[in-house]
Amino acid sequence: MRTLDALRQEATQTWQALEQETRPRVLVGAATCGRAAGALAVIEAVEKARRERGLEVLVTEVGCLGLCCMEPVVTVYKPGRPAILYGNVTPPVMNEILQRWLLGDDPCLDRAIATVNGDRLDGIPPFHEHPMLKAQSRLILRNCGVIDPTNFHHYLARGGYLGLENALRMPPEMVIEQVKRSGLRGRGGAGFPTWRKWQLCREVPGSPKYIICNADEGDPGAFMNRALLEGDPHSMLEGMLIAGYAIGASKGYIYIRAEYPLAVQRLRTAISQMREAGLLGEHILDSSFSFDIEIREGAGAFVCGEETALIASIEGRRGMPRPRPPFPAQSGLWGRPTVINNVETLAAVSHILRDGPDSYARLGTSNARGTKTFSLAGKVQRTGLIEVPLGITLRQIIFDIGGGIAEGRAFKAVQTGGPSGGCLPASHLDTPVDYESLTAAGSIMGSGGLVVMDDRNCAVDIAHYFLSFTQAESCGKCPPCRVGTQRMLWILESIQAGTATMEDLDLLESLAQTVKAGSLCGLGQTAPNPVLTTLRYFRSEYEAHVRDRRCPAGVCRALITYRITDECTGCTLCARLCPMGAISGQRKQKHVIDPNRCERCGACLDACSYRAIVVN
Ligand SMILES: Cc1cc2nc3c(=O)[nH]c(=O)nc-3n(C[C@H](O)[C@H](O)[C@H](O)COP(=O)(O)O)c2cc1C
Repeated sequence: MRTLDALRQEATQTWQALEQETRPRVLVGAATCGRAAGALAVIEAVEKARRERGLEVLVTEVGCLGLCCMEPVVTVYKPGRPAILYGNVTPPVMNEILQRWLLGDDPCLDRAIATVNGDRLDGIPPFHEHPMLKAQSRLILRNCGVIDPTNFHHYLARGGYLGLENALRMPPEMVIEQVKRSGLRGRGGAGFPTWRKWQLCREVPGSPKYIICNADEGDPGAFMNRALLEGDPHSMLEGMLIAGYAIGASKGYIYIRAEYPLAVQRLRTAISQMREAGLLGEHILDSSFSFDIEIREGAGAFVCGEETALIASIEGRRGMPRPRPPFPAQSGLWGRPTVINNVETLAAVSHILRDGPDSYARLGTSNARGTKTFSLAGKVQRTGLIEVPLGITLRQIIFDIGGGIAEGRAFKAVQTGGPSGGCLPASHLDTPVDYESLTAAGSIMGSGGLVVMDDRNCAVDIAHYFLSFTQAESCGKCPPCRVGTQRMLWILESIQAGTATMEDLDLLESLAQTVKAGSLCGLGQTAPNPVLTTLRYFRSEYEAHVRDRRCPAGVCRALITYRITDECTGCTLCARLCPMGAISGQRKQKHVIDPNRCERCGACLDACSYRAIVVN
């Protein structure tokens, strides 16, 4: 078998040369999150300094390091000195770092987050000791923010495609056995053992067979798969090749939403690099394995993440699910045996075949091995992309990694599993994060969205928000989902309007159970979860809405009024901001709100620095 040895040697030299580079280097986190925060302007600032001031510095775009709350983040390598990671870097801050640190000798510690490569510097922790990183284990994300995702050499130099080479030296059955030993379960939500799905498909006679990478990622608040594809596309692609070899497939499809243009671009670049290196096409690395990959862009419908709907969409039909069995492993794309795996599942496969199944199984719990990536969003201090060993508790994630609740507020709930997951209260903070424990608590692991809520979030409003999403995304094929979620939404709206009765609460609960039991696909089967969990854990809040016509969190507009207290200094900011012109008063005198004109939008409440506006 031809090997990648020559290319890898070249790649190692490139990587070593980079490490020994005598010019300073600047790495800018320029995944979508970094770009949204202004990373491209930071890159332009470095380029400008190079052009106009003749500053000898290399600048590289890298993926997301996970510290999204501190974006744009920049790592600066000054030869012979500790490498330093800076956060919240704007173009003027970048210029300051270039001036003080690269041209002078002041490391700008006031702007530093961590040191990189294990170095120590006065009071600045090494990256892995940073409070946000300490409890993490970065296997899947190990290259994100570290390598240039468009540079094939970088991936190869860090052990890339060793997993594939190992796999091709084994019979396919042994590859499946390795994945079995690792304990890997699907990271797309359901947690089905990956090896079993592969074996099922392998055992079905006939060819061709297909492997599909599900990169649809439709959960609001979830961005793990996008970040991985933007920061390290080859890790998923290598896993796809290994999966294809194991199940006997000759073709792979990546189903990715068109709303992820940067990830698509990174994938296209990586695929052409693979083709050039003989990693796609006939007789890959001179083995008997022939394989090719195609990208299919989806229009961004949540239901198209469901595997049978996804298949319909690739086939050019409307993305609607169909009853199973037959399962895609038996009859999938164009009626052929097909395995569908999530992006993270496939990236984990590369790791397992490279470092061995035991290295993966060592992390996690007996029932949920390895690590899981999550996007930590909502009211935590440190939002971002994290990777943790399974079995870690919600408390560790939210308080140790996330730094607790923002603005000193109180924790109320955490939504796990995206729109079809559930909201868990403070009493469940010590729940281990694994498939079974979350399900027992009424929620799900899902694909990795974690949204944290504080005491200013209303349980009814949360349920309404998530159900509105799933209701709008229901494909409409089966009545329980189409009609049931709509009817549930109406009840929630009447609760928020203060017109519901206690019987409506019972009706809501039984309807939720019916939709869960009667829906055709996972969308309808899980859509009631936010309603059921908030009813289970925050029932008194629902009752306050119905019985007392009161929203304890002060969110539901029909049930609240705003009032200005004696703390008002007459700064006039609220009056100037109010879109309805409902606030009046003289400068330096207490203002008043006209309840008949007030729309309860909360603009005044958010703006008042004197906490002089209260919600009743
Ligand atoms: C409504 C709905 C949306 C889904 N969206 C995704 C998605 O965005 N990404 C994903 O990998 N799996 C998604 N799934 C799960 C997939 O159908 C499928 O189980 C998964 O891709 C299998 O891969 P795995 O075994 O590697 O987890 C969704 C399921 C449902 C019911």
